[in-house]
Amino acid sequence: MRKQIVAGNWKMNKNVQESTQLASEIVAEVKDLNLDNTRVIVTPTFVNISEVVKVAKGSAVEVAAQNMHQAKSGAFTGEISAEMLTSLGLKTVILGHSERREYFGETDAILAEKVDAALANGLEVIFCFGEVLEDRKAGNHFSVVESQIKNALFHLPADAWKNIVLAYEPVWAIGTGETASPEQAQEMHAFIRKIVTDKYNTEVAGDVSILYGGSVNPGNAKEIFSKEDVDGGLIGGAALKAESFIALVNSF
Ligand code: 13P
Repeated sequence: MRKQIVAGNWKMNKNVQESTQLASEIVAEVKDLNLDNTRVIVTPTFVNISEVVKVAKGSAVEVAAQNMHQAKSGAFTGEISAEMLTSLGLKTVILGHSERREYFGETDAILAEKVDAALANGLEVIFCFGEVLEDRKAGNHFSVVESQIKNALFHLPADAWKNIVLAYEPVWAIGTGETASPEQAQEMHAFIRKIVTDKYNTEVAGDVSILYGGSVNPGNAKEIFSKEDVDGGLIGGAALKAESFIALVNSF
């Protein structure tokens, strides 16, 4: 059965003291929750990962990375490899975030390589994709999402999908305060599950968690998360405070 996931993407926010403080607060709150089928993930920026790992140790809070390079090692100044992440005990990495695509030139082809490198190192991938506003206005959102998923993930064998989590993040809803309606999210998530079914089978499609991301907050999460094909959220702004992040976890 697929898991429900609430993942906080801290992006380039919080220094080491602020990161450990926020992680401590989340760990303290999560201790008293009956998480059942729900995973709670936080993703600090690279330099703060090891300190946050120490804080989260022994708790139900998982720590993940926001990105990684596709090469094994070598002359790639400023980059981080999959093996560096696993050596810290990490099990999960976010790949394909729209900010990586837009500001750092990450293409579908690069992302396919990153996905392969992550999986080869035993990492689970939270794979992000989503259309820009012009695509939605032009009615191209389904074909854009389909090609993003196809180009980066459909070369994988079916059994690799146990380490894939999908995150639909319409770019027009990220950090804008404008959320996709629960119906828009459900419509897209059902479409995604259908294309995965068509490419693989109902088992792969039924087991993959599909998260929604884009201005999720404690006021709108319950309704979005209640949709049949929405298995949780990838959260930006509302993940930066323990109170709102925990409220999102409690929305299930
Ligand atoms: P916001 O929740 O701030 O819109 O960010 C969403 C996001 O990009 C998560 O990866």
